[in-house]
Amino acid sequence: MRLYADTADHELIREYTRYGVLDGVTTNPSIVAATDGTYRETITSIAELIDGPVFAQVLAEDAAGMIEQARAYDEWAEDVIVKLPATRAGYETLDRVRTEGIRAGITVVFSLSQAVLAAKNDATFVAPYVARLTDAGEDGVDVAAAIGEAFDAYGYDTEVLAASVRNEFQVRRLYRAGIDAITLAPAVFEAQFDHRGTEEGLAGFREAWGERGDPLATRAETEVESEAETGTEVNAGAETGTGTEAGIRE
Ligand code: E4P
Repeated sequence: MRLYADTADHELIREYTRYGVLDGVTTNPSIVAATDGTYRETITSIAELIDGPVFAQVLAEDAAGMIEQARAYDEWAEDVIVKLPATRAGYETLDRVRTEGIRAGITVVFSLSQAVLAAKNDATFVAPYVARLTDAGEDGVDVAAAIGEAFDAYGYDTEVLAASVRNEFQVRRLYRAGIDAITLAPAVFEAQFDHRGTEEGLAGFREAWGERGDPLATRAETEVESEAETGTEVNAGAETGTGTEAGIRE
């Protein structure tokens, strides 16, 4: 399973990289437009931050323009995957650039048929737009899952990359469906880490530990601290027979 961040925010990409769960970064023209950089600067600067692919979407609407942009993006950095739209020009471009060895797939996918056509052309990925499908009256998670099932049945290697995912509920359903990859905007990405039950559980442990201090403290340090607090001499280890010999950390 691969998890991508749908953002061009360098700080967030660095942060998510530290958690060890980030497999790559997806962008789209709206995300790039919100940066200060040129298209190329935005894509190459992200590529320098991550150990994984950065997805870059073409803007041309005809096949000649898409092919030109796909070839250029592919040269910008080592690990760029080109996003082509689910249009006839997009499929024509996909057919051409895949024979040249350029990694590319189809995005803004709204149907199983669009996804199968992409896989027939050896697409690197297809990106069903889960929340936008749901907005349009379909169950976006079901469409993504159906694409995965069809690819398994036909033996296609094309990655099913669930995109346009808006909440934790959709994320969990996608995980249960065993979707190959999911890209998440920062708010949804971060929501995965948080749960009230975890907060409450940890608060209980903190309360139980109370003022006992540093868990790395040795018995000697603990006794000094205890003496300082109570003004008495404490030698619990000697009395109970539990000393360093009994495995207490020194
Ligand atoms: C995927 O790569 C797209 O950038 C993204 O998921 C689109 O989602 P949206 O519906 O939030 O725009």
